[in-house]
Order: sequence, then C-alpha cells, then structure tokens
Amino acid sequence: MQSLLNKKIVLGISGGIAAYKSAELARLLMQEGASVQVVMTEAATQFITPVTMQALTGNPVFTNQWDARINNNMAHIELSRAADAILIAPASADLMAKLSLGLADDLLTTLCLARDCPLLLAPAMNLQMWQHPATVRSAERLRSDHAELLGPASGAQACGEVGMGRMLEPAEITEQLIAFFQKKVLAGKRVLITAGPTFEAIDPVRGITNRSSGKMGFAIARAALEAGAEVHLIAGPCELDTPLLAAGKIQRTDVVSAKDMYEAVMASPTCDLFFGVAAVADWAIANPSKEKIKRQGGGKSTPNIEFAPNPDILLTMAQSAKKAKGKPYPYCVGFAAESTKLEEHADDKRKRKGIPLIIGNIGPDTFGSDQNQLLLIHERGSKKLAKAPKLQLARQLIQFVATQL
Ligand code: C5P
Repeated sequence: MQSLLNKKIVLGISGGIAAYKSAELARLLMQEGASVQVVMTEAATQFITPVTMQALTGNPVFTNQWDARINNNMAHIELSRAADAILIAPASADLMAKLSLGLADDLLTTLCLARDCPLLLAPAMNLQMWQHPATVRSAERLRSDHAELLGPASGAQACGEVGMGRMLEPAEITEQLIAFFQKKVLAGKRVLITAGPTFEAIDPVRGITNRSSGKMGFAIARAALEAGAEVHLIAGPCELDTPLLAAGKIQRTDVVSAKDMYEAVMASPTCDLFFGVAAVADWAIANPSKEKIKRQGGGKSTPNIEFAPNPDILLTMAQSAKKAKGKPYPYCVGFAAESTKLEEHADDKRKRKGIPLIIGNIGPDTFGSDQNQLLLIHERGSKKLAKAPKLQLARQLIQFVATQL
C-alpha cells in the first residue's frame, strides 16, 4: 500500500547533522510512491552530498538559485509549482528564523516564499537553540503563517546533550506527512474507540482472553486522527504502539478486563462517534482467586470456575445516544465476526444493539492479519470493502462514516 502515490514532494535539506537522515527519509517517501525533488542549502552540502541525494531520488539536486539547468532561470517558481508539498528536514534554527521573517537569500528560502503548496518543517537543533526565545518566536510565526511543524523530539543529541531538539525519525516524518495529506472529514469531531481483546482473570497468573490483535481498532484510531478528529483509544491488552506516536495526539487508556473497558468508556467525555472494535469477553470470572489455584486431587479434579455476564459497552453507548437534527449522537459503530450468514446475522446484531452501522469481518482468518475484507451494513443496505491492508480499510470506513454524520 503506497500512501503517497503520485505526490510530488520537494525535500528541502538545511545545514544540520541530522541531514544524514534525509537520505533515509527520501527513500521512505519514494517507497510510499512519492517522487522526491531535493533542494539543499549550501550548509547542508557540508553534511551530505548532492550526489548521494541525486543517486537515491533519481532527480538532479538543486542548491543554487542561478542554476543554469532550469531554462528560464526561475528555479524557485519551477520547483514549487510542481510540488504537492515542501518538506524541510532537517530545518535548522537559522532556516526557521529566515523563513519566519520572509527572507529569501538562497534557493530553498526563495522557493518557500514563492510556494503555493503546504510547507512542513522537521526542526533539528541543539536543545539550547530550540529553547532560545528567538527560535520560539520563529516557530510561533511559522505556525501562524500555516507552516506545519513536525516534532522535534526529545532525546540524545549529536552534540552529546540530551533534550528537546532532536529531529523526528524518518519513519515518523513519513507517517506525519501521510497523515497531513488525508482529507479532514472529521475535523472538530471527538472519536472514541475500543480495541483489542479483554482479559478476564481466573487467578493472578491465568485468565480468559481471545485472539483479537487490536490491529483494526488501532488502524481506525489512526485513520480518524488523520481525518482531523480528536481521538481517545481504549485498548485491551495488546502489544501495539499508539498510532502516530510522534505526533502525540491520540489519548490512549490501557485496560485489562471488560469491566475496566466499560468504566473507561463511561468516564470518557462525550463523543460524536463511537467505534466498538474491541472483542469484549462475554463473561467475567465471578469467583477469581486471589492466589494461584493449585492442582488438587493428584491433578484429577478441576477448579470450580463461575461466570458472570459482562456489561455490553456498545449497547450501553447506543442506548445513551441522543438525537441531534434527526441523527443519533454519538453515532455508534459495531463490529461482528460471524462464522455463517454474515450479512443476516450481523444485521440482526445491528438491530438488537440499536446502532446505525455494523461492520462484518468477511473471512475466517482476520485475527492478527494485516489485511481484512469488510461488509458495511447500515439501515439502507450494505457495502463491501474489498480485501486490503487494515489501514486502507480504516481510511475508507472513516470516509463512509463521515458521510453519515
Ligand atoms: O455482542 P456481540 O459480541 O455479538 O457484538 C459485537 C460488538 O459488540 C462489537 O462491536 C463489540 O465491540 C461490542 N461489544 C461490546 N461489549 C460487549 C460485547 C460486545 O461493546 N460486552
């Protein structure tokens, strides 16, 4: 799945040691389908050579405003008009200061001033430089001029100090650029998502859980964030990283049991959209043991485990939904994994829960897989989403749900 297919990116490189990571960044952007045109400042060429960047991108690298390779001598206009975005990584303190003042004394700064496309910057500098009031001012001015700042992160720096100012990793910059390009169909909306399995303890070391990996729920959280929503992800026990971690925008609550998940959902502020993606255990253990249950009767007897029904989170959310302008609020979306007659059984479930939309997992082997096929069943019919990576399906699902709000 290439998330930057047909995108033309001008990759600006300014003078900082993090420039060595720009080579990896160019490769990742290209792997996602983008074509990359590199423009470097003179200082950047001290850290990484234009030859390296040209070899990686397959495009001539520009460093000079008066480059004779551009026919009309207007490199700044030619290059920016062709671009879908200008991404500067690393963006040095000096470059940020110049851009924030509208200075244009070399090709990269002139290109930014002449652009008619978005500008994204990944700052990279020593922590004292990042904290300096002049840089704080530059960052504020750039944001108010609608430039997007990606990072920086905190961590070990090339100068030996530790703190804020480290450039985001190339993979994180790529993720955030992809997110930037998604349609903001959920701007201003609050989205609450449950994901993953739950774990019902039998004793301190044993319990009952299921095979849900959490991948679909996490993909929906990412797609909702990309679409401009404020996202709260409530996750059962799973090993997945919070999506778009470097952007730090998803609020995540980790829970263990279905009861914990229920309480976390009820404690979350009101939302516009609720996705119940978690595979919530139907039963809790009514008589969990505080101590590990020992084998008894020479291993021949079995423990007496009693079950109690768990609260139905989705049903509770759907029952609490209010009507606003004829539409339910929050708009609740459920998931169904059925072994037979998917559409019929899932639609029955949709009606029982009183929700406008239920998503059927097509096929038996969706657990843990990176791919899935979905059937969207709503009040007026159904729509199939063909087999694709879960993130791609999540983006399609978000687009569909946005049309229903
Ligand atoms: O109730 P059932 O498991 O058949 O339906 C599945 C849907 O209900 C999923 O969206 C799941 O997240 C949600 N659910 C829930 N709380 C439960 C059981 C299921 O939110 N206790």
